[in-house]
Amino acid sequence: MLMSEYKIPLIDLQEQSVRLGDELLSRVKNVIMSAQYIMGNEVKTFEESFAKFIGTKHAISCGNGTDALVLALEALGVGNGDEVITTTYTFFATAESIAYVGAKPVFIDVNPETFNMDAALIEKAITSKTKAIMPVHLFGQACKMDEIMAIASKHNLYVIEDACQAVGGSYKGQMLGTFGDVACFSFFPTKNLGAAGDGGMIVTSNDRIATTLKALRVHGSGENGKAALTYRNESSLDALNCDTPDGLNLDNTVYNASKYYNYIVGHNSRLDELQAAVLNVKLNYLNEWNERRSVLAQNYSDQLSSLQTKGQFKVPYTSTDVKHVYHMYILKAENKEALTNYLASKGIATGIYYPVPLHLQKAFENLGYKVGDFPVAEYLSKRTFAIPMYAELTDEQQAYIISTINNYANTI
Ligand SMILES: Cc1ncc(COP(=O)(O)O)c(C=O)c1O
Repeated sequence: MLMSEYKIPLIDLQEQSVRLGDELLSRVKNVIMSAQYIMGNEVKTFEESFAKFIGTKHAISCGNGTDALVLALEALGVGNGDEVITTTYTFFATAESIAYVGAKPVFIDVNPETFNMDAALIEKAITSKTKAIMPVHLFGQACKMDEIMAIASKHNLYVIEDACQAVGGSYKGQMLGTFGDVACFSFFPTKNLGAAGDGGMIVTSNDRIATTLKALRVHGSGENGKAALTYRNESSLDALNCDTPDGLNLDNTVYNASKYYNYIVGHNSRLDELQAAVLNVKLNYLNEWNERRSVLAQNYSDQLSSLQTKGQFKVPYTSTDVKHVYHMYILKAENKEALTNYLASKGIATGIYYPVPLHLQKAFENLGYKVGDFPVAEYLSKRTFAIPMYAELTDEQQAYIISTINNYANTI
């Protein structure tokens, strides 16, 4: 069945576009008429607003969330011969970024309730090659950041938060994205804050990392590139914590001859001005949308949980320590196919996140993992599925989804 054939899709992007249509179109039109398409005022404004929203000193935009992770690893000097500890139960890009920079993803299993990396397993995975930990705030729920940060600091490891699914979430009252040395966000259209195409962001409060990231996204060129090369030659944790040298023009956003002088090998990974215009509009609604997601999640959990006793499925666990932004609302069922097929027959879409844990992905065969290595993730990958969750889901639509699931549960 095509997504468009469902009465209720997993996520409805059109509703949001209809609601914001005029605002989006006039902002996008202004960009087109200004003919300033690359790194203009919309990008600058969005970076400033996003840094303020998260509470970091810097926000450096880039092409997408995957690039954000790659750039972050490179800015921290993670590469060949290094190991990065991460979760096996996530989207492929998390570990792909680690492999892409030449480092080795070292997987650990997840907590069966939160689906996030089990912090108690991190220390056992640390070796002399470990350079960083990459926690993923999966489905919008924070990892146990106090435990993760304590281990990182004890072993002198970097922390790169993969916050691609958790924009606006928090842990013990602190915004996600402010814990690690860097944090990465995705603005893929289906994310809680979605562009009209691809987009990504890296946040940090470290001046040197920020400068290096600004260089890496534009071919390592210009004054930022020159500065990044200096930092690289000094590379140490201490150096990264120093201030940027005075007197450098770090604005690489306008035409500037220095852009044809390249100091380190980087990428072409910029956020489009058009996407920044869209994101500037949408950022104003993010809190409202996340609140609505939270209300919808509470409704689901309240009205579906009585059926859990029948053992047919479980609603997601939400820790009291977190502000969960419910990028997805995930049910866990022993007989997933029966329920998802029933929902499909009633016009309700579902999605499987994630059917194959990363240690069992063909692309990571070279890492030598096997079935049974991470039993919790393997168990979850066969049982979890998402039901519709987006801010524009109406009360009537949700009531229909809930009654359909109730009917299913009562008839078997
Ligand atoms: C956990 C996680 N990491 C990384 C990414 C990569 O983001 P993007 O699709 O913008 O490259 C995504 C989203 O797709 C994600 O969900």
